Amino acid sequence: MKFNSKLDRLGTETAFAVSAQARAWAEKGHKIYPFHLGDINLPTPENIREATYRFMNQNKNGYCPSEGIPELREALAHDVGSKRGVEYAMENVVIQPGGKPTIWKFFAVVMNEGDEVLYPNPGYPIYESQIKYQGGIPVPYSYDETDSGFAIDIEKLRASITEKTTMLVYNNYQNPICAASSQEEVEALAELALEHDLWVLSDDAYYEIRYTDEPPRSIVNISGMQERTLILYTFSKKFAMTGWRVGASIGPAEVIKQIARFNINDESCTNHFIQHALAETVEGDQSGAKALLSELQTRRDVMVEGLNAINGIHVPKPESTFYLFPNVTKVMAKKEFTDLDEFRIAALESTGVSFCARHHFGTPLEHETEHYIRLAYSGITQNDIREGLGKLKSWLEG
Ligand SMILES: Cc1ncc(COP(=O)(O)O)c(C=O)c1O
Repeated sequence: MKFNSKLDRLGTETAFAVSAQARAWAEKGHKIYPFHLGDINLPTPENIREATYRFMNQNKNGYCPSEGIPELREALAHDVGSKRGVEYAMENVVIQPGGKPTIWKFFAVVMNEGDEVLYPNPGYPIYESQIKYQGGIPVPYSYDETDSGFAIDIEKLRASITEKTTMLVYNNYQNPICAASSQEEVEALAELALEHDLWVLSDDAYYEIRYTDEPPRSIVNISGMQERTLILYTFSKKFAMTGWRVGASIGPAEVIKQIARFNINDESCTNHFIQHALAETVEGDQSGAKALLSELQTRRDVMVEGLNAINGIHVPKPESTFYLFPNVTKVMAKKEFTDLDEFRIAALESTGVSFCARHHFGTPLEHETEHYIRLAYSGITQNDIREGLGKLKSWLEG
């Protein structure tokens, strides 16, 4: 019996494998400090839960339009457009079961075999997986570490563009490295996209997980970009709804029409009663989302303080996401580790502190000499952050 040979090209999200290792270690009776998975250990806001029960009880239990219910598409068009300084209509929105499906569906609509796709590496691992699986050629771009965070190496990115380049994947408010673009960086990327006629996937999963009053930056708001950009939108992070599976693809109406064909072929429609609840709450009472953000911000501060208390580690305070991406090159050398994964497992087994590492976010690039880990603070309490980072400090400095 044969399997499809394309499966060899399909990657995975190895953060889930790290979770399994942490679980196995916990089952042996050890306390785990779960910094590995970008999941949220806080409840979905009450108004969303209440509205969901209500619509479930109103028998919104049948199929609904594959594109999503008009009320939610309209509400999102308004909300997402106004938060980015552009206008969208219902025709620009197609509801998805989560943020992730937008990635493969957009590639399936605009990418041809042999097309070169620029994507962030380190970055969300599903980009690389789906580019390869669907026959594209992944062309990674990377970030330079600066005193205040990370910045895209625009010149290197420009140099990697060829006649075959057709797409740019851009994740502002970035997972795993929590980079937030300056306005100059967004403009430089837009200029490249316009000059080389590229489609852009703007992964906005963390667009609303920001801890600053500075207005957010979006590539769609630059002249000429709305027509070539598809936004990956998700409710997962903003409303602590990772397991509910609701999101949307938002962009040019012609692209949306094609993506909707995949909805019909794939899931038929996204959960019906949840869509009604979200249509009501997307621009309604936001106090639940605000409380969530405030808790995440406090955790971020505790994290930054705890990590910077460790000799050999320095992290700036990121303005967005719920990750930190410390450089651990010095502390690894001190503990005489040369292999990042061995270091990660030793940390787990010595302290219970579980985290992901650079290689879980795309294939490491040849020139890399520094080692990084990713710590998420969305699924761990403030007390456990303090306790876990304290144990990590003792182990690293011991
Ligand atoms: C950058 C990025 N994009 C997309 C997603 C997928 O989001 P969802 O869980 O809504 O599918 C994630 C989830 O962690 C993410 O970090």
